[in-house]
Amino acid sequence: MIDFFIDGVAVQAENGHTVMQAAVAAGINIPSFCWHPQLSVPGNCRICMVEVEADGGAWFDISCNMPVVSGMRVLTDSEKVKELRKDTMQFITLNHPVDCGICNKSGECLLQDHHFAYNGMPSLSRDPKTHATKFYPLSERIMLDNERCIMCSRCVRFTAEISKSNALGVENRGDHSLIRPAADVNFDDDVYSDNVIDICPVGALLSRELLDHARVWYLKATPSVCPGCERGCSINIWHRKAEWKLNALDPRLNTRIDRITPLDNPAVNGPWVCNKARDLSRIFERARATQPMVQGAATSLSEAIAAAAELIANAQHPVAFVSSWGSNEELAAFHTTFDSTFTSFVKADWTVQPGERIADDVLIKPDKNPNTFFARTMFSPMPDDASVAVPVDTDVLLVWGDGVALDAVPATTRVILLTSYDLPGHSRADVLLPISVQTERSGHYTNFAGVVTAFAQCFPKHANVSDAAILFEAIYAASSHVVGAR
Ligand code: SF4
Ligand code: SF4
Ligand code: FES
Repeated sequence: MIDFFIDGVAVQAENGHTVMQAAVAAGINIPSFCWHPQLSVPGNCRICMVEVEADGGAWFDISCNMPVVSGMRVLTDSEKVKELRKDTMQFITLNHPVDCGICNKSGECLLQDHHFAYNGMPSLSRDPKTHATKFYPLSERIMLDNERCIMCSRCVRFTAEISKSNALGVENRGDHSLIRPAADVNFDDDVYSDNVIDICPVGALLSRELLDHARVWYLKATPSVCPGCERGCSINIWHRKAEWKLNALDPRLNTRIDRITPLDNPAVNGPWVCNKARDLSRIFERARATQPMVQGAATSLSEAIAAAAELIANAQHPVAFVSSWGSNEELAAFHTTFDSTFTSFVKADWTVQPGERIADDVLIKPDKNPNTFFARTMFSPMPDDASVAVPVDTDVLLVWGDGVALDAVPATTRVILLTSYDLPGHSRADVLLPISVQTERSGHYTNFAGVVTAFAQCFPKHANVSDAAILFEAIYAASSHVVGAR
C-alpha cells in the first residue's frame, strides 16, 4: 500500500493505482466523464483535473491517469482546480444543445450534475453551435443523439473491451466527430449492447423502449436478480413510485416493469448485464393465471387446495417436477413439506430460445434457470428422458412452474399444476393453482458458483395468486386431514 494525502486527509492506495482509483476507494469524489472503473483510461475529458502540491511549485494533471506516489499531496477542490473545471465545462458544452428539459437522461445526467457543481454559467461562446445528427437509430434497441455526445468514448471502449463486438467507432475529426456503428458489424448482434446506455454520461444513447415513457424521478428501483440464466446477475427493476401513481391512464402502467439496469455486484456480474435482463418484462408480463381451477372449472382457492390435498393424500406413486425458478425459501418449503411424499426431480423451467446465445466468456451461462444449483442440493436432476421420471404407475404428478408439456403426461396420471402463466395446454391440469412471479415476492437465488443473492418484491399480488411456499404448507396441512388417506 502507498500512503499519500487527498485534501489533507491521509489515504492509502494499492500499488499501481491512480489518484482516481484511490479516491473512489476512499469514498472521495472527483468528477469524471470518460473514466469508468472497468474500462481503459483515455484521459480525454479533463474534468478530473487535480492539483498536486510540490516543493518546486504546484502542478496540475488528470487524476484518472496519475499514478499515486508515496507522500504526494493532492488537492481536488483548490481555487485553481475549480477554475480549470469551469473552463473544461465551458469547452465540453460548447456544442452541446442543453436540451435537458426534453432529454430522457434528465435526473441522472453527469453533464447536468457537473455543470451545476463546477460551472453554472451560460456559454461564453459567441459562435453558433455546430449541429449534428439528432435521433440516429444506432440499433433496433438504441437511439443516438450526436449533438448531446461529449465524445467521452466510453461506448466505443465498451464494445472493444467488454462485449468485444467492436461494433462502435468514431467517424470524422474535431467538432465533426460522430459515434457511428462499424461498417462490418451489426450492433444488434451485440447481446450486451444496452450497457452503453447506462455508461453514457449524457443523454446521447437512449433506450428506444424507454424513450419518452417515464421520467426517472417517477420511478423506483427495487433490487432483484435476473432469472435469465444460472449466472443470476444482480439487477434493479424500475417501476412507478406509489406517490406518482397514474390515476387517469391504464392502471396496469403502475405495476409494470419500466426498465431494468445492472446492480453492481463484483461477486456475480460487476456493473454489466446482458440484454435478456433488460427484456424480462417479456417473460414476467405474459398473460397471467389468476383463477384457481379444478377439472377445468373455476373455483375458490380453498377448494382448489382441498382438491390438490385429496389427490396427494390418496396417491400411491406421486411424482413432483420441482421448479428451478423457485427461490431458496420456496424450494426449502417444498422439501420440508413433501420430500417424503413425492419422488421429486428438478426440471428446467426455461430452455435456450431460438437465436439466443447459449454461453460466452462474459456473463451468459448455458442453464437458462436461476436456481438449478440450489434445487439440486435437495432434489434429483431430471433424467434425460422425462418419461423415465413418470413411470406408467404414476398416479399423481405435481408440476411446479413452466417447461412441462402437459399433453405428453399419460392420461391416467392426475396433474396438479402450480403456475404463474395462462399457457396453452394448462387445461389438461386436474387442479390448477396460480402462483406469484418473482416480482411479486421476495427471496434468494443461489447461482452456479454458489453465490446467494436476494430479490425484493416490486408489485402486489392478485387476490387469487399465492406464493408457492404458502401453497405447499396449505396443501400439506389439508392433506393430513383427508379422511381415508394412505
Ligand atoms: S455516445 Fe455517450 S458514451 Fe458514447 S462517446 Fe458520446 S457521450 Fe460518450
Ligand atoms: S448473463 Fe444471465 S443472469 Fe446475467 S443478465 Fe444475462 S441472462 Fe440474466
Ligand atoms: S475522467 Fe479523467 S480525463 Fe476524463
